[in-house]
Amino acid sequence: MKESKLKNIAVLASGRGSNFQAILTKIEEQVIPARIVCVISDNPQPPVFQIATAAGIPTHWLNRKQFATPEAYADFFLDLLKHYHTDLVVLAGYLKLIPAPVVRQFAGAILNIHPALLPNFGGQGYYGLKVHEAVLAAGVRVTGVTIHFVDEHYDTGAIIHQEKVPVLTGDTPESLAARVLTVEHRIYPQIIKAWCEGQIQLIDRKVVWHKTI
Ligand code: GRF
Repeated sequence: MKESKLKNIAVLASGRGSNFQAILTKIEEQVIPARIVCVISDNPQPPVFQIATAAGIPTHWLNRKQFATPEAYADFFLDLLKHYHTDLVVLAGYLKLIPAPVVRQFAGAILNIHPALLPNFGGQGYYGLKVHEAVLAAGVRVTGVTIHFVDEHYDTGAIIHQEKVPVLTGDTPESLAARVLTVEHRIYPQIIKAWCEGQIQLIDRKVVWHKTI
């Protein structure tokens, strides 16, 4: 793999970091032609920072509350991403909205993963086990994983890929979350690889695939 072709990925994560780990593994295996340049979190000491630090990846705590104005926050966010020559921003369990100037500058280059089939069971407040609790409360028999481009709102950006996961009799939010997470770990690295290889683009708010996975 030629070093010059590697894409620079900034990962945004609020907590555990199991998707981060899955992506990092595929990068280390040279399946994804990229390097992770930094991990940014709205939390000061999330578990994901421990994984990043062990892998020698710089971490940054970045929170709106650290800044006097939304503009100062957005400017710092953009400067940080540019400092690392970021090509792609990957949200992996990141709970905050991305500032609009960052969304504009990185249009078509910010990905998110959601543990349900959007547009259902998404939006503000649908995170973690709450998503799976809502799926079980609704009584649907199928849930899944959605990977989408990020816009200025929660979970509304153009959908790149979805995969179904069955809801089984007797499922708890925890058992369902675990089944969904297995699929997340498999398909997020695949989509990130496809993006890095130039197979996926966002054109006029629509996803264009140049080759299917
Ligand atoms: C995942 O379920 C992901 O779909 C959602 O947040 C969770 C993050 O888990 N956006 P982890 O931190 O990657 O383990």
